[in-house]
Amino acid sequence: MKNVVVTGGAGYIGSHTVLSLIEYGYNPIIVDNFSNSSPKVIERLEKISNRDIKCYNIDCCNKDELDKVFKENDVFGVIHFAGYKAVGESVKLPLKYYENNLISLLNVVEVMHNNNSNNLIFSSSATVYGDPASVPIYEDFPLHVTNPYGRTKLMIEEILKDYVKANPDFKVALLRYFNPIGAHESGLIGEDPNGIPNNLMPYITQVCIGKLDHLNVFGDDYDTIDGTGVRDYVHVLDLARGHSLTLKKMEEINDNLLIYNLGTGKGSSVLEVVHEMEKVVGHKIHYVIANRRAGDIATCYANCDKAYKELGFKTQYNLYDMCQSSWNFQQKNPNGIR
Ligand code: UFG
Repeated sequence: MKNVVVTGGAGYIGSHTVLSLIEYGYNPIIVDNFSNSSPKVIERLEKISNRDIKCYNIDCCNKDELDKVFKENDVFGVIHFAGYKAVGESVKLPLKYYENNLISLLNVVEVMHNNNSNNLIFSSSATVYGDPASVPIYEDFPLHVTNPYGRTKLMIEEILKDYVKANPDFKVALLRYFNPIGAHESGLIGEDPNGIPNNLMPYITQVCIGKLDHLNVFGDDYDTIDGTGVRDYVHVLDLARGHSLTLKKMEEINDNLLIYNLGTGKGSSVLEVVHEMEKVVGHKIHYVIANRRAGDIATCYANCDKAYKELGFKTQYNLYDMCQSSWNFQQKNPNGIR
């Protein structure tokens, strides 16, 4: 079984990807410093997969410690999820974001190089498209970012493009995620934000469970179906599978730079998500129309034909499944993963 290092493997997308890698016959090795996740996630992953999972409590900013992982294991590839991801915080603390996200990436690449590990998947984001001129968004659209978090994603994409030019034996895949929501059907792992959630789905589930009084809908005067923001929500299990399919592809081909959008290709408005969740919980959800949130765009959804044609990436879950599994996770973990 090929070893795949998953940095940030205890996090939301990372943990679901660890399970997918196992299903696809890879051996995941988690590297996480648990700065935004719980070590309990590892036990839960072991419970779901019914096997031991190797895990190193390491900060990717520590190059020497990271190097040890590669010395102790023959590493076929790396999926690099680890990084800070709060847009608002990045505006207030840009250096924290540049330092952590860029140094981690530089260390990962250098350590891979020194240990002859040549396949890297980077966790990028639809945020690199900024406010697109039209939708759906294709991979060759112009790139533009509006906040330091997004800029770290774009800078890393550029760094990796330069790196593969200079190192043709090194393969990189840039996966641009749209809006991942949902959770594993066991309810043991899911999105577990610290404090008051920034993102829509954990906010809604916390309203549903009574931890928050109501949802603020950020604007109802956008040029969209009902005036509220439209996003491409994708089930985290579909997204996770996209990583395994990408690794398989990297084993088959010689191209050394792959870029894919991972979404569903379909947009849903904030109110459509709320109404879908109302079907799941069986009652109305209290929401209030609030001002637009600074930096938000009206509409963002992907064209995913490239991932479908080249990877066979086809989503299996609909919005109802996403809401249902998010709610299941919230109910089973009213206070998060503790
Ligand atoms: N929204 C609300 N109320 C809330 C939270 C969100 O109305 O309490 C709305 C937003 O205005 C937006 C939609 O719900 O229209 C989705 O918002 P999220 O914060 O869940 O997601 P974003 O699309 O703003 O951002 C996400 C990730 C970013 C990433 C970006 C890329 O959180 O990390 O997608 O597209 F950069």
